[in-house]
Amino acid sequence: MAAKSRNLREKTSKNNGKAVAAPLLAWYDGHARVLPWRARKGERADPYAVWLSEIMLQQTTVATVGPYFMRFLKRWPTVEALAAAPQEEVMKEWAGLGYYSRARNLHACAKTVSSDHGGKFPDTVEELGNLPGIGPYTAAAISAIAFGRNATVVDGNVERVVARLFDLRTPLPQVKPEIREKAATLTPEKRAGDFAQAMMDLGATVCTPKNPACNRCPINDLCDARAAGTQSVLPARAPKKPKPTRRGACFWLTRGNEVWLRRRPQKGLLGGMMEVPGTPWDRREAADCHRTVNETSQMDSGAPARGGDNPFGHAPLDATWKLVPGFVSHTFTHFHLELDVYVAATRRKLVPGEGMWVPLDEIAGEALPTVMRKVAAHAMPDAGSLFAKR
Ligand code: ADE
Repeated sequence: MAAKSRNLREKTSKNNGKAVAAPLLAWYDGHARVLPWRARKGERADPYAVWLSEIMLQQTTVATVGPYFMRFLKRWPTVEALAAAPQEEVMKEWAGLGYYSRARNLHACAKTVSSDHGGKFPDTVEELGNLPGIGPYTAAAISAIAFGRNATVVDGNVERVVARLFDLRTPLPQVKPEIREKAATLTPEKRAGDFAQAMMDLGATVCTPKNPACNRCPINDLCDARAAGTQSVLPARAPKKPKPTRRGACFWLTRGNEVWLRRRPQKGLLGGMMEVPGTPWDRREAADCHRTVNETSQMDSGAPARGGDNPFGHAPLDATWKLVPGFVSHTFTHFHLELDVYVAATRRKLVPGEGMWVPLDEIAGEALPTVMRKVAAHAMPDAGSLFAKR
């Protein structure tokens, strides 16, 4: 857009920032979503609960987080209790939430708060930001929501509300600094935590990505995008790069009612989580040949698979591996994954390499990430419910 017309728009903006807080807070008093980590009216939020919820809510929806949050709080009601838990147990409770480095950092943070801060979370953005797993967004959210400090909280919902309120047309992510600057002009001195959550709720329930319900918006008369008719197309986004597809194979080995699982390395994707052993995820065959060869045939170990690439060198032991028809697909942040699943049964108790026999009826409580739950359900379609996270 020409600089001249942008300047004109800024001059004629209906927003002087401070006008937004009062109607939005009044709306929040009547329309706040009831969420398990929120304090009841007139009560102070528990910083431990706020911190736990904010870590869980990073890249995860409110609906998904709810049951996890309740289970964590019931099992570890204080930060000291969480600090004293074995990391493996924390990973098990986290299984299915994804982005597993969050769980490791969560545990490290609980330990630091317990040992270095006497079990009390600090209240400033700066001190909070020095704790493991707490970045600028989370530090601001805890400082505002748990301690009422005047910090500006900008998540995806808030970004959308602000981009529309000021009719900011530069695409994401370049527009982020401008959004942050504008958001800071809106934050009131009092009730900064309620204000942050009011912005989030407005974004989640009224100022939605598609079909925003402007007629129900408490600040629609202040909205520059509404005046310009641009609300449905903001915030603009730079086109996304397509995600690559990686492929691999994994081996579901059973012995009676047990399955052979191993732990992934602590560092990297799904670090510290359990997995069904398999090949690295780097096979990039063309999609059309991938699904047509050996789909239902019984294969001896060592038999060459697609394109001469032999996955069986990664199998836990020699066996008659049978390819389960179809494949498992899962999308991570940076790539799609397609996994072939081979099944075999053995009577051998000893399997070379690291791993363990896990009873099938205990899998739900294991630190098994979602992609591996899909593998389990694919390998044993009749036992699918055994593998769903409790
Ligand atoms: N997303 C992140 N934090 C949130 C909160 N406190 N309330 C609602 N949605 C959120």
